[in-house]
Amino acid sequence: MLAAVALMVVSACGSEPAAPVKLAIVPNPVSVEAIGRGAKATANVKTRVDAKLAPEAYELRVKNGRITIKGGSEAGVFWGRQTLAQIVAQCGERIPGVLIKDEPAFAYRGAHLDCCRHFFSVDEVKSFIDMIALHKLNVFHWHLTEDQGWRPEIKAYPRLTEVGSVRAETLVGHYGSNQYDGTPYGGFYTQDQMRDVVKYAAERFITVIPEIEMPGHASAALASYPELGCRGAEYPYKVQTTWGVFPEVFCAGNPETVTFLEKVLDEICDIFPSEYIHIGGDEAPRDEWEKCPKCQALMKEKGFTREAELQSYLITTIEKYLADKGRKIIGWDEILDGGVSQSATVMSWRGAQGGIAAAKMGNDVVMTPNSHFYFDYYQTGDPRGNEEPLGIGGNLPLRKCYSFDPFDQLNENEKAHIKGIQANMWTEYVATFDHVQHMVLPRMAALAEIAWNPDGRTEYDDFVDRIVNGLLPIYTSRGYNYAPYAFKDIE
Ligand code: ACM
Ligand code: ZN
Repeated sequence: MLAAVALMVVSACGSEPAAPVKLAIVPNPVSVEAIGRGAKATANVKTRVDAKLAPEAYELRVKNGRITIKGGSEAGVFWGRQTLAQIVAQCGERIPGVLIKDEPAFAYRGAHLDCCRHFFSVDEVKSFIDMIALHKLNVFHWHLTEDQGWRPEIKAYPRLTEVGSVRAETLVGHYGSNQYDGTPYGGFYTQDQMRDVVKYAAERFITVIPEIEMPGHASAALASYPELGCRGAEYPYKVQTTWGVFPEVFCAGNPETVTFLEKVLDEICDIFPSEYIHIGGDEAPRDEWEKCPKCQALMKEKGFTREAELQSYLITTIEKYLADKGRKIIGWDEILDGGVSQSATVMSWRGAQGGIAAAKMGNDVVMTPNSHFYFDYYQTGDPRGNEEPLGIGGNLPLRKCYSFDPFDQLNENEKAHIKGIQANMWTEYVATFDHVQHMVLPRMAALAEIAWNPDGRTEYDDFVDRIVNGLLPIYTSRGYNYAPYAFKDIE
């Protein structure tokens, strides 16, 4: 149920007494209370950590010329600063007396960016992290390997970036056009650059989770090291130039595949301190495994009757390897196929069903359903996207994002397995960072509100009002290219 009225009316922006004003804050804080006289926006902000508060909780107090922020940790203080920034953006020089108490509902509040279909510079990635921070999200899921490009430098396997980071050309127009631009396209991140991104994010209390795809979405890796594919070293694997799901996957029956993945993950773990490592697992066709002597021999040896068990075998092998390093795997909901260990966290993307099933089995879940949080989908509500730049398709207006119920069909025990929610920004049709901003903003605001205060969601019009008054001034001052037509609906 949405709360009918959400926003506390406090004294006017400025000093007392004056006409009441609604403070425009997204996500809607847990509680907002008018207190005393306000303060100048330029007043010194006193901060402190109070371990009695929950780790990311904060209390922001503006009273009688003073501004204080108390956080359960430095992260909590930082989230309090984001709220203050929204109040200042709305009110300007003087801000009203107010006590805000807030605490996120979910410990995992993520945004993903695909830097493979199109490559984004370190500065652009940092700008994405700034957007995440503004919305008080705390995870950046960095999609780093794909059919169309391998992005992270791996010292043990230099061909991954020498060969795998560049595709010969790129599809022009929508899938099926059969037109290509004839221009090589590529890019990669050095290990120093990735460390720099991790540090930048950590300064904003954001964890970077790297994703290394297996066993599918592996064309760029196989173009670099063809001996790791079922068709072997002679087969002309290539970095793909169009979009979709490809039959070329890692050979699960070749022990060198496991060695390769482990060595890659050694370097990835060195760079990324996150507890979670994302191992992909989605959209891996099994046709090649059916025909491959190595894969079939392994199935026989292990007594497997279905190729899905090979996927499960590979994922659990990698899970054990990472567990020895103190890391946990997270993977797309296909990791449930063929059986998954209880300790794997499932990222539900094909709607919420995979996540619901996983939570019922006792696995932890991050909900990132394409029905609500695929920010590559069109956003005017027009499934043809007539007004919008070319996109992959879909139909995901802001109002729909805002309606997601993360706990649908779950009992109290099962609800505890929903660790968080995330939006995904796939970039097949999104070639520039301006366009990324256009797809993500303002929909990221809906994600943020559900991540912080799902029960405190308001009537939709009130939510839009808060975006317009509390967030758009910041988007504008930072030059973010938000989608102006996102607020309208064509149902
Ligand atoms: C996905 O969208 N293939 C996870
Ligand atoms: Zn094979």
